[in-house]
Amino acid sequence: MGTATLIIDGKSYELPTFVGSEGERAIDISKLREKTGYITYDPGLGNTGMCKSAITYIDGDAGILRYRGIPIEQFAEHPNFIEVAWLLIFGRLPTKDELARFSERLTQNAPLHEAMRHHFEGFPVNAPPMAVVSAMISTLSCFHYHLFNDDSQFEELAARLISKVRTIAAYAYKRSIGRPYIYPDPRLRYCANLLHMMFSMPYDQYIVDPDIEDALNLVFILHADHEQNCSTTAVRVVGSSRANLFASCAAGVCALWGPLHGGANVEVMEMLEKIHQGGLTPEKYIELAKDKSSPVRLMGFGHRVYKNYDPRAKMLKAACDRVFAKLKRRDPLLDIARKLEELALKDSYFIERKLYPNVDFYSGILFRAIGIPTEMFTVMFAIGRLPGWIAQWKEQHDEANAKIVRPRQIYTGETQHDYVPFEQRRAPSA
Ligand code: ACO
Repeated sequence: MGTATLIIDGKSYELPTFVGSEGERAIDISKLREKTGYITYDPGLGNTGMCKSAITYIDGDAGILRYRGIPIEQFAEHPNFIEVAWLLIFGRLPTKDELARFSERLTQNAPLHEAMRHHFEGFPVNAPPMAVVSAMISTLSCFHYHLFNDDSQFEELAARLISKVRTIAAYAYKRSIGRPYIYPDPRLRYCANLLHMMFSMPYDQYIVDPDIEDALNLVFILHADHEQNCSTTAVRVVGSSRANLFASCAAGVCALWGPLHGGANVEVMEMLEKIHQGGLTPEKYIELAKDKSSPVRLMGFGHRVYKNYDPRAKMLKAACDRVFAKLKRRDPLLDIARKLEELALKDSYFIERKLYPNVDFYSGILFRAIGIPTEMFTVMFAIGRLPGWIAQWKEQHDEANAKIVRPRQIYTGETQHDYVPFEQRRAPSA
């Protein structure tokens, strides 16, 4: 603990400072308004630490990402999404028995209540799948509320959510294509079961390729947590009111949906398709992305935190190469993505602004290779991110002195004036 001196209008104020376990330095301004009458102004909260967290560490300049201290690269060899989920939520690697117990809970909880299955019929066939997923996660609150206020049931609650979101995602997809819902198969593991529910038909079992199953495990692991991003912050903000886990995670899905966050993986594919269909060359697209008079951005590039190559993008790029080699296929969109990356990484615009590929740049191509349709990409991201949201929600829930999130604002509207009756009002001049 140290102190920082803040001088306002010649008057000095001492504010405590502290350092995180990896050396991040912070000034504690929690008493700033009380002491000085000032608040801080930080649109986008890029300089604001909202919480202390022991879950995920990112060094954006060095391109480092660790879950509970373990470098992300170490999960690549035998990727097991459920093991990583347990690690994130409970703070350490599970023993064999703990993992087996958690996996059993997932298996037991995979089916939805039959009443929930009927809910899918109420959605329009072309409803955006993220809307369906967030609505159905909220709906889970109607069926599992008896677990909400009992901390001893937390593992069961987390397992229900992680397991059922996969069934919800598969049913949202089946609804969108007008095909029959497929019940989960208790013999299949997490990712294989998802693929089974998405792609099997009652008369035709989808056979899961173990390499594809590994690739899906890896993508989910790489999406599993990313500290205080937009959707995680949404989960924490909602959870700070003591809203239940399911309601808080439904808010996370809504935040993830936006094109500047999880929705970017869809935008990347649209960008690559547009170039592939001959509308634009990669060179022309890069020029447009640099042109400030055009709204175009190089989707899948840039990040609030990473000012270096996103380590997840690096691993996804390598996974794309492995999967395409195994499938003995080529994807012209992968070639276009590589070309865009090559052009951007030697262009002074991107170099000066430290814009590198982020997780969304290659994830869509990998999802495509796995057979996931574009409209389901952001849903896949949500399934992957769920353990992170749950871990962050729990960390906040367990904190003795957690406060409801309630920021301040700098009011810039009208100062006080009187109400004017209709007959005395004038329309503003054009
Ligand atoms: N293409 C072109 N220019 C870009 C891009 C891009 N992808 N990203 C940033 N820039 C430029 C901005 O125009 C700005 O230029 P300026 O300084 O001349 O005004 C500068 O780089 C800084 O950009 P900001 O928008 O201020 O950076 P911020 O940290 O607020 O935004 C964001 C980060 C939203 C990710 C941004 O880089 C972006 O829009 N990228 C494309 C969308 C995307 O891929 N989103 C996924 C992010 S990862 C995730 O959520 C999982």
